[in-house]
Amino acid sequence: MIRNYVGLACSFHDPALAIVDQSGEVVFAEGAERALQDKRAMNAPPDPIHRIRELIEEYCDPRAELVVAKSWSGRSLPQRQAAYHLVRFAESPPELYFGVPMRGAKTSTERFLLGSLAMYADANFNAMEQAGVNLEYRMRELGGDWATRLVHRNFDHHLTHAAAACFSSPFTEAVCAVLDGWGEHGSVAYYTYREGRLIPLDAPIGDGSLGLFYAYLCQACGFDYLKGEEWKVMGLASYGKRDEKLHSFLRSLIEYDELALSVPTDYSEKLHQLFEIAREPDEPALAAADLARTGQEVFEEVSALLLHDLASMGISKNLVLSGGCALNSSWNGKLLEQGDFDQLYVFPAPADDGNCVGAALLAHRADHPFHKAPVRVQSPYLGTPIDKKSLDLIEKYGRFQNVLPVEREIHEQTAELLAEGKIVGWMQGRAEFGPRALGNRSILADPRPADMKDRINATVKFREEFRPFAPSILHEHGAEWFEDYRESPYMERTLVFRPEVRARVPAVVHRDGTGRLQTVKREWNPRFHDLIRAFYELTGIPILLNTSFNVMGKPIIHSVEDAVVVFLTSGLDALVIDDRLYLK
Ligand SMILES: [Fe+2]
Repeated sequence: MIRNYVGLACSFHDPALAIVDQSGEVVFAEGAERALQDKRAMNAPPDPIHRIRELIEEYCDPRAELVVAKSWSGRSLPQRQAAYHLVRFAESPPELYFGVPMRGAKTSTERFLLGSLAMYADANFNAMEQAGVNLEYRMRELGGDWATRLVHRNFDHHLTHAAAACFSSPFTEAVCAVLDGWGEHGSVAYYTYREGRLIPLDAPIGDGSLGLFYAYLCQACGFDYLKGEEWKVMGLASYGKRDEKLHSFLRSLIEYDELALSVPTDYSEKLHQLFEIAREPDEPALAAADLARTGQEVFEEVSALLLHDLASMGISKNLVLSGGCALNSSWNGKLLEQGDFDQLYVFPAPADDGNCVGAALLAHRADHPFHKAPVRVQSPYLGTPIDKKSLDLIEKYGRFQNVLPVEREIHEQTAELLAEGKIVGWMQGRAEFGPRALGNRSILADPRPADMKDRINATVKFREEFRPFAPSILHEHGAEWFEDYRESPYMERTLVFRPEVRARVPAVVHRDGTGRLQTVKREWNPRFHDLIRAFYELTGIPILLNTSFNVMGKPIIHSVEDAVVVFLTSGLDALVIDDRLYLK
């Protein structure tokens, strides 16, 4: 029997859907936020009613039985149901819920957090229960025996994090650490990965969480963790300095012992102290720079202790990191310096969106226990392709001032525009899966002008000036530009620019001399590689500034229409879609 596997990431935030075919290949993966154009798609189903049918028809074998695999186990539903009742209806609720006082919250941050945690309890309950309903409905609509060919399976949340990362990694063996906000048994989980199998490691379960530590830090810095603004803490950190008093206070918020994280007995009091020093909305972001820097250092120190102990178990020198904390690219870039591990792999979507891939792959492996996955770097280009019909309509009816005839290769013409200082929206092939634009839904620019960063921030992205822009670099030049260069195919790590080259590309060098780089190899993305190479031939610089194709507060563009809207309403100078080039 032919089986295809539909993975559903069914947390209330970052819902996503993946399809794995009979051979175990991931043939589609995308967050619901993209088609909805609603950042993080809070409370949206992972199987959108308006799209699920076309996705199944496009990516599944019409003869296949569909296995629907979810990213939370059957056990989690009663857990969430209990949390929901506790928060909403309990006659005598506990004093604290995840460290936040249930009654008498004193600060606005505490009130916000309590509200968000209450929302978390019922939203996740709904999300788990209702994921797959749209799929089932549309399958019935398709008629025939589609509806009877649905098999449902549920997997442990942290196992799906580990599976997405390990099964897609270039390793044949590794040790995996899932560092998350919260799962079904605490916030962390560890696995041995060998011969295509994941074996959980027995480790004590504490009540602490590095993910929640960072979320609370994010709130205290005056940002919003529900909007995923932890990025801003990382960006702001390099503007601050370590404050020793603050350090000993923040470090006391999280205790660590033998692979287990826990919270101190006076946690609530301490959290309250943290929120009392929170940045007020009317204060400039830089007022929280020392807090961001010191908090990032605490995150790194605790992670380092934990990973050192994991390495001491002697399981493997290959580390796979997953869970939301694996988005901390600053730490990812440093952690190999400890010498505990030789290599690091991070999946392009290590947070909850990536769990749709993990669940689908787990379901496939359950049916094919001797499956041998190819050892290679997983392509992140798993999302929706360009709709050629929309493109034709835009070409016909769009009122652009200028449509350039393409006389030469599109990458050569685009490289010339970039070298002239033009800011270009670049939409190619299939969308990237995960939070980073990796050269298919990107805004690109010349990294040489010192004012380029401010220009893009002010006229295109409309975002804070302290946030850095990333460099995409030809792999063959990586070691000339970065110290201790390592491949970073998904912008998963931040490395240090060599001091002697920093002045040549000021727009992509962060304040602390680092860059969250994307390694570009021709075999991974030929057109993007050709573009950077053409730019290099014109300028001697094998790097382009690459930022996601969106404006602040919106997800990365999904459709041709989205691309045109950003083009016409921002300071973009040119738009390239597939092999067509438009100028304003
Ligand atoms: Fe998670």
